[in-house]
Amino acid sequence: MDHPALCTAPHPALRAVARPVEAFAEEVRRLAHDLIETMYAHDGIGLAAPQIGRDVQVFVANPSQRRGSELVVVNPVLRGSRGRASVTEGCLSLPSIWARVRRASAVRLEGWDLAGKPLVVEAEGLLAIVLQHECDHLQGRLFIDRLPWLQRRRVEARLRDTAACA
Ligand code: NI
Repeated sequence: MDHPALCTAPHPALRAVARPVEAFAEEVRRLAHDLIETMYAHDGIGLAAPQIGRDVQVFVANPSQRRGSELVVVNPVLRGSRGRASVTEGCLSLPSIWARVRRASAVRLEGWDLAGKPLVVEAEGLLAIVLQHECDHLQGRLFIDRLPWLQRRRVEARLRDTAACA
């Protein structure tokens, strides 16, 4: 395997609030590379550092799944959100669970790129959903947290049987 293992729920790494990156060093570029490789290895369209057991605010996203067009965001903050969307989501850390999640339909994301330059992304459509989903990961939040109470209880009961960093 040429990429790090994926943490699946209820792994505790998925519930920690990630630390901000303080130095844009080689280590962060390696982490981004690891995230990209792991995302593709599992056919994902986004992946956040806690999902490979790394407690830092970095995620990658690529709804097109086209190599080379990955978005890497360090220390992201969602500044503005507009509209409403309800899209069926999944998560590499919650295999076999899919559910419709209510989110904003458009967002403005601010953060930093790998070189330490400010980055602003105005997104709508699928990218807006992915950005919100990945920002949630950095706060220790999973998409199932956003489901109505009863639906969430059912999903959590199914999850109780599985715990692994596969
Ligand atoms: Ni996810």
